[in-house]
Amino acid sequence: MKTEEKKRDDLVPIFIMGKKYDVPSSLTIQKAMEYAGYQLIRGCGCRGGICGACGTVYRFPGSYKIEVGLACQTMVQPNMYLAQIPFFPAVKKTYDMEAIKPGIEAIVKTYPEVLRCLQCNTCTKSCPMEIEVMDYIAAAMRGDVARLAELSFDCVMCGLCTSRCPAEICQYNIAILGRRLYGKYVAARAQHLAEMVKGVETGKFDPMLKELMEADEETLKKIYTAREVEPEQADEFWTPKDKTYL
Ligand code: SF4
Ligand code: SF4
Ligand code: FES
Repeated sequence: MKTEEKKRDDLVPIFIMGKKYDVPSSLTIQKAMEYAGYQLIRGCGCRGGICGACGTVYRFPGSYKIEVGLACQTMVQPNMYLAQIPFFPAVKKTYDMEAIKPGIEAIVKTYPEVLRCLQCNTCTKSCPMEIEVMDYIAAAMRGDVARLAELSFDCVMCGLCTSRCPAEICQYNIAILGRRLYGKYVAARAQHLAEMVKGVETGKFDPMLKELMEADEETLKKIYTAREVEPEQADEFWTPKDKTYL
């Protein structure tokens, strides 16, 4: 009985798509929705703030302000009125990366609506990742793919900026174009990656893969348990003791 009473003390009212539910105050919006009986088939992916599937808007009674958050990362607060935006229709162009080059022409030809930006800053205020979205759109308008890639790096493609843009721009797809152009044409090549690719192409890893493919379950378990794991606090120069496949 005591446990039940304590649990009831923890409950706070929230409104999911207009309907009131009392949920434990210790829950994220995502867990509160499940507590309230919703089965999340859309609008729920990684549960760790990475996939961007759980974009949510909410408001408090009497407040003009639209708040935003990722449902898996945002704790419930009393009297929040919320709705998830698990999908927002967006312009997503296809293009040939071999045929375009970094610069304003590629960006404006692919997404001409970028020039409609009013610099209202609504996108920045809507971003749960605290990204300077308006600034990366400004970089896109200048054709500065390095700045566009740098500023948009943490974007999880939740779509909240796009849902509120008065110029109907899809910021995150423009950012992806920018990062692709940056990665393909501007960023310095990683020497170690080139070496690993060469190793794949020349069959360096084939014996190891063959060995794993032919191993029985018990052997696989032993290999897995005995594997050398990179320590959490390892510096960038860490390498495993066994360098057979490096
Ligand atoms: S919300 Fe749209 S119009 Fe406003 S600054 Fe962002 S991209 Fe520009
Ligand atoms: S830039 Fe837009 S799509 Fe990316 S995380 Fe921010 S609000 Fe979401
Ligand atoms: S479920 Fe992936 S970011 Fe929330």
